[in-house]
Amino acid sequence: MPSRREFLTSAAAASAASIVARPVGAATPHAVEVGAGAGAARPVVIASSNGLRGVKLAYDRIVAGADTLDAIIAGVNITELDPEDQSVGLGGLPNADGVVQLDASCMHGPTRRAGAVGCLEDIATPSLVAKAVMDYTDHIMLVGEGARRFAIEMGFRPQNLLTERSRQDWLRWRARLNPTDARLDYDGDVAIRSTTGTINMNAVSAGGDISSVTTTSGMAWKVPGRVGDSPIVGAGQYCDNLVGAAGSTGRGEANIKACGAFLAVEFLRQGLAPAQAALKTLERIVAMTEARLIDPQGRPRFDIQFYVVAKDGRYGGATLHPGAEFAVCDDRGARLEKCVALYPAR
Ligand code: GLY
Repeated sequence: MPSRREFLTSAAAASAASIVARPVGAATPHAVEVGAGAGAARPVVIASSNGLRGVKLAYDRIVAGADTLDAIIAGVNITELDPEDQSVGLGGLPNADGVVQLDASCMHGPTRRAGAVGCLEDIATPSLVAKAVMDYTDHIMLVGEGARRFAIEMGFRPQNLLTERSRQDWLRWRARLNPTDARLDYDGDVAIRSTTGTINMNAVSAGGDISSVTTTSGMAWKVPGRVGDSPIVGAGQYCDNLVGAAGSTGRGEANIKACGAFLAVEFLRQGLAPAQAALKTLERIVAMTEARLIDPQGRPRFDIQFYVVAKDGRYGGATLHPGAEFAVCDDRGARLEKCVALYPAR
C-alpha cells in the first residue's frame, strides 16, 4: 500500500493526467490457464495462502464427517489464535489509536444462513462470534460494543489482542506520522508493515454442501471504526449451496464497491470456471477504481485476490498483480497453488 502522502501526490498526478481506471495490459482471462481444479475432487477446501495449515485441518474434519462451516472456522481459528500472525485475530495490527478491531463473516450453504461481526474488540476469534450471531440471533451483523457484549454473553473470553510486536510496530508508525510533531522517529531502518491481511476459507463436502468464512484485523492503522469487506456478506465472502463459494483478501474498500464475492459466485452460476469468475470479478473492481488509486500505467496501486470454489469441487484463485498464492486441500493433500494474475509481471 502506498503511504497517505503517496496517495495525495498520486491523486494530483492522476487528476492532471486524466488517468482512466482500466486494466491496461491486463491478461485476457480467456488466454490464461484457468484449469486449476480440472478433474475436481470432493471434498475440497481452499483458502488464502495464510490458511495452509487451516485447509488441512478443515479437510480432515470434513472427511471425518464434520459440517463444512464448523470445519473451516476451526481452520481459520489457527491463524486467529496465532500471536505471530499480524493480519488476523490475536496479534493483528491495530487501528490508528493502537486498538485491535476485528471483522469476520460466514455463510452456511445448506441452511442458507449468515453471520457477521464488525469492529469487534478483545475477542480473538471473530469468526466464531460471527457464527454465534448466525446461530443464536435473528440478526446477521453485530458491530462494536454490542458485538463485544454479545460475545461475552455467549461465553467468549475477553483478552488484550495487542501483542508487544504489534504495539511496537504501531509506535513506530505513529512516530513517523508527522515530521513536525513532538514524537521522535526511531528504528529508522525498520520497515513499517501496513497490511490488509485477511484469511478467507471455503469448502465443499463430498455431498456438495458448501460454506465460507472470512476473518481479519483489517487495514493496519485504519481510522477507528473502519469496517472493511470481510464482515460484509457478498463482499468478503459469499456462498450459495447450489453454485459455490467465493471470498477475498486485499483492499476491502475496492471490494465493497463491487460486491466481489457475490459477483464471483454469480459468474460461476453463469457457467464460468472458478478462476475465470475470479478474474472477471477483478476486472469489475478495476473498472470501479477511482483515479487517485490508479498508477501511471493504468493499474491499481493496491492488490486484491479472490478464491472461488464450485459445487463440483473445481476451484481457482486470482490476483490483480502476479505473485499471490492460495492454499488447497483435497485428496492430493494440502499445498499452495499460484493465483492467476489479471496483469502480467512488469
Ligand atoms: N480485506 C480486508 C480488509 O480490507 O479489511
